[in-house]
Amino acid sequence: MLTGDRPTGRLHLGHLFGSLKNRVDLQNQGIDTKIVIADYQVITDKDMAKDVRENTLNLVIDYLAAGIDPNKTLIFNHSQIPALNQLMVPFLSLVSNQELLRNPTVKAELTNSDRQDEKSFDALLFTYPVHQACDILFCDANIVPVGEDQLPHIELTNKIQSRFNRKYGEVFKHTNALLPKGEIIKVPGLDGQKMSKSLNNAIYLSNSDDETIKIIKKSPTDSIEELYFDPINRPGVSALLTYAALTSAKNETPQDIAKLFSDSVGRWAGGLKELVAENINSFLKVHRTKRNELEKDLTYVEQVLREGNQKANEIANQKLTKTNQALGVFS
Ligand code: TRP
Repeated sequence: MLTGDRPTGRLHLGHLFGSLKNRVDLQNQGIDTKIVIADYQVITDKDMAKDVRENTLNLVIDYLAAGIDPNKTLIFNHSQIPALNQLMVPFLSLVSNQELLRNPTVKAELTNSDRQDEKSFDALLFTYPVHQACDILFCDANIVPVGEDQLPHIELTNKIQSRFNRKYGEVFKHTNALLPKGEIIKVPGLDGQKMSKSLNNAIYLSNSDDETIKIIKKSPTDSIEELYFDPINRPGVSALLTYAALTSAKNETPQDIAKLFSDSVGRWAGGLKELVAENINSFLKVHRTKRNELEKDLTYVEQVLREGNQKANEIANQKLTKTNQALGVFS
């Protein structure tokens, strides 16, 4: 299995419930797991490029704190695996510009108003689905957990895979998207929209307990006298109820949490916020303790990454040799 993250910022509760927990579970089921830190993908985003190194180390810290075990899961950096990146050259010859233009992510970026001028829509962004195909195919990953929006990338990956194999011989393996089963836990941001750094509505795994209390205190509620769960009409309040439920030690639902305040008509806000912050802080206690220890031991964190990169390089070098042999170029 291969998954990846772009080191664009710190991980928040949305990442923890949306992907991190799932990765830890799959790892612990004995599935061979790899995580690519897609640092070369971030350079298309010029504002963020400056913090990539620090963001990368913080990603590794959060992985380890969440229970990713470097003896079971391979963590590596895109930028440190030359042979992986070199696959880009033959792969680009197997994809047409038209196909890339039809890719929904590429299309969305093309029409994104921030990228309206020609210069900001660079060729790396244009070829980003091919880059992702390199990540998947270099290590024969046959399971890639993705959301619906990423399905076209997986389809393109398999087109590249089958075209290469047909033209040059069997080198790459077919891959499969693993869509989330059952109910997807979507963690809303403080304003009820999707939790994300850019919307400034996130609670980070790296926030301290005090920071969490402050963030929750400042979060928007409303002046409806009774407390009840209604994500459409009461986004802020319902986000708070969702956090309290997700982090509840008693497996409560948002509705259960709301009921706790049925005697506090017109004055539930303070108590709710206190409960939410308490629940989040106790839920993240182990994670944050580990994270603080790791922050003091960056040598170890860097070593995890170095060893991961070394192993990924071995895999990539072997695959590149096979690729070059199949292509018939000097190898
Ligand atoms: N594009 C993914 C994201 O934005 C990160 C990623 C890079 C990835 N390479 C990958 C995910 C390969 C799965 C497989 O989150």
